[in-house]
Amino acid sequence: MSHRIAVIPGDGIGQEVIVAALKVVKATGAELEFEEFDWSAERYLKDGVTVPPDGFKKLGRDFDAIFLGAFGDPRVPTNIHAKEILLGMRFRMDLYANVRPVHLLDAALCPLKNVEPADVNFTVIRENTEGLYVDVGGVFKPGMPEEVAVQEDVNTRKGVERVIRYAFEYAKQHGRKKVLMADKANVMTYAGGLWQRVFHEEAKKHPTLEAQHMYVDVVAMMMVREPRQFEVIVTNNMFGDILTDLGAGLAGGLGMASSGNIHPGKTSMFEPVHGSAPNIAGKNIANPIGAIATASMMLAHLGLTKEAGKIDAAILDAVRQKKTTFDVGGTLGTKESAAWIAERVAKG
Ligand SMILES: NC(=O)c1ccc[n+]([C@@H]2O[C@H](COP(=O)([O-])OP(=O)(O)OC[C@H]3O[C@@H](n4cnc5c(N)ncnc54)[C@H](O)[C@@H]3O)[C@@H](O)[C@H]2O)c1
Repeated sequence: MSHRIAVIPGDGIGQEVIVAALKVVKATGAELEFEEFDWSAERYLKDGVTVPPDGFKKLGRDFDAIFLGAFGDPRVPTNIHAKEILLGMRFRMDLYANVRPVHLLDAALCPLKNVEPADVNFTVIRENTEGLYVDVGGVFKPGMPEEVAVQEDVNTRKGVERVIRYAFEYAKQHGRKKVLMADKANVMTYAGGLWQRVFHEEAKKHPTLEAQHMYVDVVAMMMVREPRQFEVIVTNNMFGDILTDLGAGLAGGLGMASSGNIHPGKTSMFEPVHGSAPNIAGKNIANPIGAIATASMMLAHLGLTKEAGKIDAAILDAVRQKKTTFDVGGTLGTKESAAWIAERVAKG
């Protein structure tokens, strides 16, 4: 059965890494149909459109998955297009579980001492539709010395329940033994209290898994000192955002990090963790591996596990043989690195 993929490269290096990753996907021979969408800063500057009318409805109705680059362009200082496209997609398509693996492929890529790849191998499940990112709040007396800014942290029982449940299910499906919930319930008592109650309730339903709690600041410290203890971490939108950049730092940098924005049973979206990186855009130096690993996640999500496995094996080879971009120790350009991986995938 053929799967239909909506491709939205977006801005900056999004354009480069998505094209590169698609070459690798095509080399797997998977039966896929692609349709490209030009939602981007370029389009917004041309005709003022961020998301065309019924855009999200079309994506949900006509596609099995969305493969997305990154958004952000210095010519759009308000970042309005990124907000409407990316946050709009996560919120309006209700992609509530942001799955971000932190997986070290080669010890040389980790800034920590005496660490083996097996020591950094966990997944962060970040709540993706609520929290501090819902854009609820306001400013009072803007520009005045007494200016006040309020940014609300929205946590619903439904939202917290479903992401925590997802984390336990994910752990089971991926052969993990424990799930850790990270919050700041000692200070943010209302939101933290809800997360705590729900976590304990869900943990009781999964007696085969160990349920553990840690304050998020301690998690950040432990990710650096003793990352081996982590298997699956579930947390809110903001904490997940920050912890996964730290995670990317442990595993070779933003150029290596992949993610899925998932709503089980609905059209889900897959994107590398990095942004549009205007400082390196258009130079053929962006690392395509984050996007390629993201494509592998997408294929696995669609049930194409054999093809995903081939991509993962080829990425590992590329990293070990330094057939990569300079940020992870190689000398190749974006296109050349992806071409090497595609060739390796095609050979099987
Ligand atoms: N999901 C998204 O679309 C997303 C995420 C983060 C930032 N942004 C946007 O991207 C723009 C730039 O933001 P930023 O600089 O904070 O984050 P960024 O991820 O774009 O870049 C951070 C640093 O990492 C480097 N980097 C990122 N991806 C890389 C890759 N594939 N290979 C090699 N190096 C890479 C960049 O050169 C830069 O030095 C902003 O407009 C921001 O809003 C978008």
